[in-house]
Amino acid sequence: MRLLTLDIRSFRSHADTSLQLGDGVTLIHGRNGTGKTNILEAIHYVCLTKSFLSSSDADCLRFDAAHFELEADLQSDAAQPAQAVRVYYSEAEGKNVFINRAPLESFSQIVGEFPCIALSPADIALTQGSPQDRRKFLDATVSQTNKAYLADLVTYRRVLTQRNKLLSELRFRKNSASQLDAWTESLINLSASIIEKRLSFTAEFASYIQKAYSLFSSFEEVPSLRYDSELVLPEQISRESLTAALTQKFRLLSDEEIRRGITLSGPHRDDLEFKINGVSLRKYASQGQHKTFIICLRLAQHFYITALLGERPVFLLDDVFSELDRDRVDNLIELLRPLGQSVITTTERREFEAIRYINTSGLFESKL
Ligand SMILES: Nc1ncnc2c1ncn2[C@@H]1O[C@H](COP(=O)(O)OP(=O)(O)OP(=O)(O)O)[C@@H](O)[C@H]1O
Ligand SMILES: [Mg+2]
Repeated sequence: MRLLTLDIRSFRSHADTSLQLGDGVTLIHGRNGTGKTNILEAIHYVCLTKSFLSSSDADCLRFDAAHFELEADLQSDAAQPAQAVRVYYSEAEGKNVFINRAPLESFSQIVGEFPCIALSPADIALTQGSPQDRRKFLDATVSQTNKAYLADLVTYRRVLTQRNKLLSELRFRKNSASQLDAWTESLINLSASIIEKRLSFTAEFASYIQKAYSLFSSFEEVPSLRYDSELVLPEQISRESLTAALTQKFRLLSDEEIRRGITLSGPHRDDLEFKINGVSLRKYASQGQHKTFIICLRLAQHFYITALLGERPVFLLDDVFSELDRDRVDNLIELLRPLGQSVITTTERREFEAIRYINTSGLFESKL
């Protein structure tokens, strides 16, 4: 997938910026605060309808503007005509997304159509943050390659909210217990499906992260990952065996759930554990090992999505050079070359052969 053109209006610090992006590597360079990261956010918006930072639509609206608008032409690797994506947001109308002028009914429809990956300093949360940060990574990766998974996730969140609401009411009104059984059954079915897919993803993804390590890391390190579930996983994983294990778990938890008024088990409480040479990354790794792991995780995500979709994601790398020595920067650029379109931000321009440059210091000043 390739982004051909991008128009950014009233988004973050950009009043009106138009860019053309080529194939291969583009380096966006410029001083601090000149809107480099904002451009990557805008690209992520047109591919996936939201920022890769945990910012809201309102945060991205340029101060004092009434609406923001992003327009992009996106070209799939398969030789179809380019598609025009438009994202429009105003406080009054909310967010609207259009593909070739047709409005999207649900934002999840676009997920996987224009695959996109962002590597940013905020990714430190992947290895050092909470389980929620890692579930987000897992869900984003699987969702971009599997629409059924995303649909299950969306339904799961809805069912979970309903079930929690009922559980909190049950503390005062015991007579809705039969309704709870229906929600529990539906939660169990969705949970079994989600956990089954997450387990097969975890098994499959190991080889992708190992490949990334062999290409990027100069150390003798073997990465691995493990799906960390509260559920005692059955020996033979299948939808049926997971359903049986979940049914038993919910039966055991039933009194406590009613007492506490909340759902106490399920994929929304699981985690992904990362390891280097068999030991926990979170507990034992050095700073450098964390950084290497994160870069490899994103590279692996790129390889995985490309393999499953047959479409190379747009790769956004925010401020990645500041953490690497020159050899590793060169190595990374060489690695990125065959991966399709990548856009890197950096404060200092560095010279590489055959890459494109965009200078935001100039861009920004010319608009003042
Ligand atoms: N909603 C907004 N409206 C207007 N300006 C904004 C908005 N959100 C952020 N900004 C401005 O955008 C600028 C930051 O842009 P950005 O993060 O893209 O900079 P950068 O070039 O990536 O800088 P650095 O090199 O420090 O990472 C800040 O000056 C900030 O005040
Ligand atoms: Mg930045």
